[in-house]
Amino acid sequence: MKIGIFDSGIGGLSVVRAIHELLPGLDIIYVADQAHVPYGRRQMAEIRSFSEQITRFLLDQGVELIVVACNTASAAALKYLRQTFPTLPIVGMEPAVKPASQQSLTRAVGVLATPATFQGELYQSLVHKYGDGLQIYQDTCAGLVEEIEAGHLKDATTRHILETALEPMLANKVDTIVLGCTHYPFVLSLLREIAGDKVQVIDPAPAVARRVETLLRSEFDYQDRPDKNALLNFFTSADPVLFRHQIDTLLGYKGRIQKLIWTNEGGLEIEKKNHQ
Ligand code: DGL
Repeated sequence: MKIGIFDSGIGGLSVVRAIHELLPGLDIIYVADQAHVPYGRRQMAEIRSFSEQITRFLLDQGVELIVVACNTASAAALKYLRQTFPTLPIVGMEPAVKPASQQSLTRAVGVLATPATFQGELYQSLVHKYGDGLQIYQDTCAGLVEEIEAGHLKDATTRHILETALEPMLANKVDTIVLGCTHYPFVLSLLREIAGDKVQVIDPAPAVARRVETLLRSEFDYQDRPDKNALLNFFTSADPVLFRHQIDTLLGYKGRIQKLIWTNEGGLEIEKKNHQ
C-alpha cells in the first residue's frame, strides 16, 4: 500500500515524519514542488493547477490515497481535487482553529499561515464555525517559508520574522498558537524560545497522521507492517542534491531522491538522469 504526499517544498516533511512514525510500514511517495515554492503568494487558480498535476503524477505512481501536506494547497485546491478525483481518498490540512478554540483559556489565539491560506474559504469557514467569543490574531510571517527552505532555522532573520509575528500576539494574551503552515514545525524550538513554554503550540501533523490511519483501515482494511522496510520515495521539481541534504537534515533520512520536470504541457515527468 502506497500513499502520495505533496507540498510546495520541505514543509510537508513534517507530515511525512508524523505519518511514518505512526505507520512505519507504509510506503510513501513525496513530491516537493520546489520549482514553485512559495505557493503562499500565488493565485488560487495557479496553485489549483499545480496541485492537480502533482496528484495526477502521484496516481501514475500507483498511490491509493493522497495527503495534501500544505495548508496553502488545501485552501486553494482541496475541494477541486475531491471533485476531480471523486473516488480517491484525499486528506488535507486546515489551520487548527477548532482545537485552539477548545484549548484556549484566555480566549485569544494566534494563527500563523500564508496569505493564500487566510484568504481561502476553508479558513473563513473555520473562523465562522469556531471563532465565536475568540480573539484571533493572524500573521503571514512574510519570508519565513523562504528562510526555512534555505535551512535558516535559527538565524537572525528567522528570529526577527517570528518575533514580529509573536510579540503583538503575546501582548494580547494569546495562550495558543496554531501552526497553519506545514513548514513552521521546523522552527518550533525557536518559536518556543520567543513565546515561552506557557503558550501551547498546535502542530496538526499528528492529527493528520491519525486521520490517514483511520481512512486506511476503513477504506483499505490496511494493517501496518513495521517489520517491513517501507519504501520512501522523494521527488523534487528543483535541485535533488539540495533536497537530499534537506531531507537528511530534517528527517535524518538518506534515501532515494529523483528530479521532476514540469513539461511545456504543464504536466510532470521524472528526469531521465538518475540521482541515487
Ligand atoms: N507548507 C505550505 C503550507 O502549509 C506552503 C507554504 C508556501 O509554499 O507558501 O502552507
